[in-house]
Amino acid sequence: MKSIAEQLSQRVRGAMSRIGVDGDPLVRSAQDQKFGDYQSNCAMGLAKKLGKKPRDVAAAIVEHLDVADMCEPSEIAGPGFVNFRLTPAFLARSLAAIPPCVDPAQDRVGIDPTNEPQTVVVDLSSPNLAKEMHVGHLRSTVIGDCIARVLEFEGHTVHRENHVGDWGTQFGMLLAHLRSVRPEIVDRPDGLVIEDLESFYVEAKTRFDTDDEFKQQSRETVVALQSGDSVTRRIWKAFCDESLRHCHAIYNRLGVRLIDRGESFYTDQMNDIIARLEAMKEQRDDGFVRVSEEALCLFMEGFKTREDEPLPLIVRKSDGGYNYATSDLATLVHRVEQLGAERIIYVVGIAQKQHFDMLFAAVRQTDWVANNVSLTHLGFGNMLAASGRPFKTSEGDTIKLKDILDEAVARAREVIEQAASDKTRPERSFSENQINRIAERVGLAAVKYFDLSHSLSSDYRFDLNTMLNLEGNTAPYMLYAYARICSIGRKAGVDFATLPGDAPIILEHPAEISLAKKLLQFAETVDMVSRELRPNVLTDYLFELAKAFSRFYDRKLGVRVIDASPERVRTSRLRLCDTTARVLRLGLYLLGIETVEQM
Ligand code: ARG
Repeated sequence: MKSIAEQLSQRVRGAMSRIGVDGDPLVRSAQDQKFGDYQSNCAMGLAKKLGKKPRDVAAAIVEHLDVADMCEPSEIAGPGFVNFRLTPAFLARSLAAIPPCVDPAQDRVGIDPTNEPQTVVVDLSSPNLAKEMHVGHLRSTVIGDCIARVLEFEGHTVHRENHVGDWGTQFGMLLAHLRSVRPEIVDRPDGLVIEDLESFYVEAKTRFDTDDEFKQQSRETVVALQSGDSVTRRIWKAFCDESLRHCHAIYNRLGVRLIDRGESFYTDQMNDIIARLEAMKEQRDDGFVRVSEEALCLFMEGFKTREDEPLPLIVRKSDGGYNYATSDLATLVHRVEQLGAERIIYVVGIAQKQHFDMLFAAVRQTDWVANNVSLTHLGFGNMLAASGRPFKTSEGDTIKLKDILDEAVARAREVIEQAASDKTRPERSFSENQINRIAERVGLAAVKYFDLSHSLSSDYRFDLNTMLNLEGNTAPYMLYAYARICSIGRKAGVDFATLPGDAPIILEHPAEISLAKKLLQFAETVDMVSRELRPNVLTDYLFELAKAFSRFYDRKLGVRVIDASPERVRTSRLRLCDTTARVLRLGLYLLGIETVEQM
């Protein structure tokens, strides 16, 4: 099934072609229900082009519009909006057409995959392996995973690239330190264990800053690493493997899959990129590639220093070394040329905006990346402490991501134990094992959901009280809404999966109609998230849906379900419950959140 917005767009396009115009039908869901459910805003733009009055253009569109099977007669409002109100009969038919769920893990709730599948690279997480993952890595991991899930769901081929920092001068210091404190590493590199990477880094750094001989050793180690010395490489690999094991413990816990392909992977390709640029320097006279102060630089229009001088993207430093830009150029080219990427999304903090702006502008100056390959830096703001200050320990150290997750789970456990102690609800007496499992899921869900529910570009405060609140736009509320529907099924004594797929949906009560409309907006919500890359569009939608369900099931405002009669009405309402549960489960899955049947 196509989304309602898409179906209406097609109809408007049809009317437009009948009056001999074309363009974007600009169908949007209506801001205010008073005017209907959807509106088309295309008349204003067309009027300008045609030199006519917008209301006249709108009237001509309405006259040629064929939507009687979907909507009440369309109305024109304001300067020339065309409003659509969906009929209950159309809503009922559309919902009834959603095929039953055969396998929850494959459930698409009636949404078709895209007709235009692409190869997409999502660059996510990408911590620096020299240190432990810290709170700063949460956002890229969680946002990137959500974006990847949505694109995969739509049927795109997604490469989830973990572009870890596993190369560079700091490794000299770490490897020199490792070799001196664990000399056995040379012969037995496998199975290296470093309990605490963070303190290991601090030890190495302290030595580097205070011990000249060690500093010299570190420098020599970098040279050895870069020139491919086999012993140094072996130690380096042991270190990176161990650091990646720390990362993957977190990824496993968060349910995030990704491919580790760090900066080191591109070391050879960097030479090739530089060679290509050197050739360009000779062939072109537009000044794009130039040597400035002995460094090889790229100059793109629009980038200026504070002094209003042209700002270069340095790709080979004056000492001959490569840098972050060189490595990212090689990476980008690899993704396009080797992986066949048609869309690349870098989920990296906003602080790196200029780096990506320059990187993209640079490749647009070459013919390495076709014009239709889309390049996006999906930047995001910082996660701050509840105080609004940067997230640090009281000593000013960075906080490990693992500690934050543990704390969220511990707090979730308190919330659940409290709810479970409510003796008036015997359903909630859980075994120790159940509580552990639910707490882990709810705690991690709370952290993810809270992160994803904020608009990407703004900073937000990490606040466990808010994110674990059972009321409001939070994971516990959403998970509870899902569990509640599961319990309706149990109380009604029906297995939702066996409800007859051909039983009609009957929509009479306003609460039923509103719920039906919300359910049918899921498809366009997913479209919007994949187009605009805004996970909070999905959290907002799910929150609206959960509220619509609450009103539907409300004893006063809504309808009877378990004891509804006649049977066909009861079945229809149970099907609405089931569809809501399925949309919640799938929607949460796309956010990276697993539901619980009980909580
Ligand atoms: N490792 C980098 C950092 O910690 C992030 C890498 C992001 N991805 C990229 N292709 N530059 O800042």
